[in-house]
Amino acid sequence: MCGIMGYSGPRPPLPLLVSGLERLEYRGYDSSGVAFFNATGAIDVLRAAGKVSVLKERVGSLEGHPGAAIGHIRWATHGAATVENAHPHKSGPIALVHNGIIENEQILRERLKAEGVLFQSETDTEVLAHLIRLEYERSGEFAESVRRALALVEGSYALAILCQDEPADLIAVRQGPPLLLGMGEGESFVASDIPAFLHFTRQVYAFRSGEIGLIRHGDVRVGEISSPSSSWKSPVAQTISWDPFFAEKGTYRHFMEKEIFEGSRALMDTLADRIVPWKTLPELAPFGPFPPPSLTFVACGTSWHAALLGRYFMESMGIPSAVEIASEFRYRPLLLPGGSWVVGISQSGETADTLGALELARKAGCRTLGISNVPGSSLERETDLCLLTHAGPEIGVASTKAFQSQVALLMLLSLALSGAEPETEKLESLIRSPHRLEMFLETMSSERFDQAVERLRQSHLVMFAGRGLDYPLSLEGALKFKEITYRPADGYPGGELKHGPIALVEPGVTVIAPMVDSNLRQKEISNLREIRARGGYVLAIGPSIPENQRGIWYDDRIDLPEVPVWSGVFQAAAVLQYLAYRVAVALGNDVDQPRNLAKSVTVE
Ligand code: F6R
Repeated sequence: MCGIMGYSGPRPPLPLLVSGLERLEYRGYDSSGVAFFNATGAIDVLRAAGKVSVLKERVGSLEGHPGAAIGHIRWATHGAATVENAHPHKSGPIALVHNGIIENEQILRERLKAEGVLFQSETDTEVLAHLIRLEYERSGEFAESVRRALALVEGSYALAILCQDEPADLIAVRQGPPLLLGMGEGESFVASDIPAFLHFTRQVYAFRSGEIGLIRHGDVRVGEISSPSSSWKSPVAQTISWDPFFAEKGTYRHFMEKEIFEGSRALMDTLADRIVPWKTLPELAPFGPFPPPSLTFVACGTSWHAALLGRYFMESMGIPSAVEIASEFRYRPLLLPGGSWVVGISQSGETADTLGALELARKAGCRTLGISNVPGSSLERETDLCLLTHAGPEIGVASTKAFQSQVALLMLLSLALSGAEPETEKLESLIRSPHRLEMFLETMSSERFDQAVERLRQSHLVMFAGRGLDYPLSLEGALKFKEITYRPADGYPGGELKHGPIALVEPGVTVIAPMVDSNLRQKEISNLREIRARGGYVLAIGPSIPENQRGIWYDDRIDLPEVPVWSGVFQAAAVLQYLAYRVAVALGNDVDQPRNLAKSVTVE
């Protein structure tokens, strides 16, 4: 949901702002812009509708004057994706970029209009620029004018702000959406996500909600937006272990493709040091006793699918658990007894609904646990304990390696929470999963998928059906497929097909059936026969699918190796991700930045 980038330091800012915005482009790609000081000491603004590549062309060989500068990529909320609505917005000496939503925008806009302010855009952000400018005209003090203006504002915002009279200064504010500070030698960066500045520094401070930062080159002070200036302090950075290589496509065509193939490494890094003799997840120990009295997962999208798998893992270890879509959970009466565990799963750690659901749970006396991929994220800070998946930064909008690492962590969590000695078979299977996935990914050549990809490209509807663990995998397969191919796709529990969805089946419909859950294979086969009997085409994905059954209950198959179920889940997930990827590429779609989506959904 929009990306912010800011810089204060001795380098010419435009090249680094544009490359930072390219790395943030997964957050929105409706328009982009930069504001910087020119050689005469005035602030120039360049904006463009569409992707960062359009802005990059406009910027050309311009470098901007060393000092402070800001940039933005937009995912439109208030107002269409036009140049006028693109950020930065400027009012007199003030220029700013914004991520979030100003809830009392209409009231403020009317008030400003009554004071004679002329608006150039339909955005809520422009209101902020005028408010700060008016306060600046009254006080003549940059930071103070920001504070006073924001006291009038309701809503959520991450901001980076410039003032014409202070060419080295950058003010950053966080009230809700994420904002990170990269601390270099004699220079500083602010950005909505770490990859934007990972090439320059790994020293990162995550602004807390309610904080304001005054940044002048390497000198940074942080205070509360609502407190007087005496409370300024120096931020303490944490060192991020992410390799800048993660933020590059390397030899791959797309980040999504690269990230699918990084799945095994994501598993390895997530499991590393978390399995010690007779114990899993030692960092969970202070959070005991185990098992918890009740456990509810809350999450959205792909993370919700990981949670659905998590419930199967928990139940297989005898731990009752429930799974809730965060945006629904947070508006229903909360009937969990105090002391219950609510586990929020979020790759970004910034999804507004997941954070909202956890806040509700915390207020009701539940214990909150987070599973996040981003160090320093809100989820990490706002939960009683947060377990990090170590998938590395995920840039492709469609989640792939992060999903794999969430699933691995949930397997581990189920073993840890059972309180019993981990079952050797499951533990071993988990320990071997990264290597098994790596071996499997090496065989996942594009030719092997050609026939299936062509079939899917020609299908007017794709359904995904599975039972047991294959049901959440089907949901995830369908989500991946529809979000990047833009083709209708849905996932179902195999047993539900005949309760309605089978009415959709006719020639031209393909049903994809992940089949790693061997316990329910015979039942799934009966469901697939019913599909074929009605003209549907069945693509089965699993181990040990006999050739002599082709034409009986399936039409085509993608073989998975014969491995224990807990390893098979990762392999099936990789196939579903790759199939969606290949079809989307064949259709000519922009897989890394699918239309209408943004990676980090920081608004409700
Ligand atoms: C789909 C996808 C989304 C996210 C969802 C939650 O590929 O990526 O469905 O899973 O927006 O995001 P996080 O996990 O960051 O809370």
